[in-house]
Amino acid sequence: MRRLGNVLVTGGAGFIGSSLVRHLLRQEGVGKVLVLDKLTYAGNRANLDGPDRDPRFLFAEGDVNDRGLVSELMEREGITGIFHLAAESHVDRSIEDSTDFIATNVCGTGTLLEVARAAGVPLLHCSTDEVYGSIESPGKAKEDAPLNPSSAYAASKAGADLLCLAAARTHRQDVIITRCTNNYGPRQYPEKLIPFFIKKALRDEPLPLYGDGLQIRDWIHVDDHCRGMLAAWKTGKVGQIFHFSGHCERTNIGIARSILDALRKPHSLLSHVDDRPGHDRRYSLDTEKSLMWFGWQPEVSFKEGFPDVVRALAAELRD
Ligand SMILES: NC(=O)c1ccc[n+]([C@@H]2O[C@H](COP(=O)([O-])OP(=O)(O)OC[C@H]3O[C@@H](n4cnc5c(N)ncnc54)[C@H](O)[C@@H]3O)[C@@H](O)[C@H]2O)c1
Repeated sequence: MRRLGNVLVTGGAGFIGSSLVRHLLRQEGVGKVLVLDKLTYAGNRANLDGPDRDPRFLFAEGDVNDRGLVSELMEREGITGIFHLAAESHVDRSIEDSTDFIATNVCGTGTLLEVARAAGVPLLHCSTDEVYGSIESPGKAKEDAPLNPSSAYAASKAGADLLCLAAARTHRQDVIITRCTNNYGPRQYPEKLIPFFIKKALRDEPLPLYGDGLQIRDWIHVDDHCRGMLAAWKTGKVGQIFHFSGHCERTNIGIARSILDALRKPHSLLSHVDDRPGHDRRYSLDTEKSLMWFGWQPEVSFKEGFPDVVRALAAELRD
């Protein structure tokens, strides 16, 4: 059983990281929770309002590629575990220019692996269903399915995953990988599908759907993802991969309609634009291993969780 102790969360000022920090502060056995975040356009210090009033919370602004800084922070704060979430995370941006994606997602993960190994500290790498590429219905990717990324974002995450697996195999380094489907929840940057569409709907502007809007994603509440990472941390073995999904496949147009319904806006706001190049049709993960290994299942139903999140994001975006 891996312990928590003093935890470093990279990317903790982002969407999922800021939820994970809240979960960690409620866990037994947690000492300090140190967030290292570069505060890129996607990182927001205000995402940590609340947790930052906890005396165990610490924040450092910096880059995961800054090996000297990461080593110094780890030593100074006596870090005993790393949850690595820092990433460039928006597919469209990676299509425009992959440079930052390679630097942060690939090189940054490589740097953290080196520092973690030198310090003898376990690391959980938070990855994505996108590494498998498009999965034909009704198939589901298992953890050993071949990696077949379509975008530079997905390729950079796959590269990071492979570095983690290599470290586990070569050095028996204590690394685990989690791969999750699309998250919904509060504090998501409004370039991503759900908050972006909410922002448009609030202004009565058209919601631009890529292509026919029939691309399928499997949506999970961010709290279920965080619970999964914590469970994987506790019981996962060196080099293991675990999947999380909400078991809730929806088309993008279906999500857009649910948003309009929750905000009582007309479906006539739906519009279609040219499809994204290399756009994957469907992602889908098999989560049987996480159920068998540590009894993980999603707890938040889309029917209950989604309207709450739409209302929360709408309130954030109105401010
Ligand atoms: N959002 C999803 O649906 C989803 C699904 C599966 C996996 N993931 C993975 O979860 C992790 C978090 O995703 P998110 O949606 O919260 O992303 P996000 O873009 O909201 O947050 C990323 C955070 O990382 C920080 N960051 C970026 N580059 C950095 C660097 N070089 N050094 C330090 N900090 C840096 C940013 O400032 C930001 O706070 C990512 O690794 C992503 O690949 C996300």
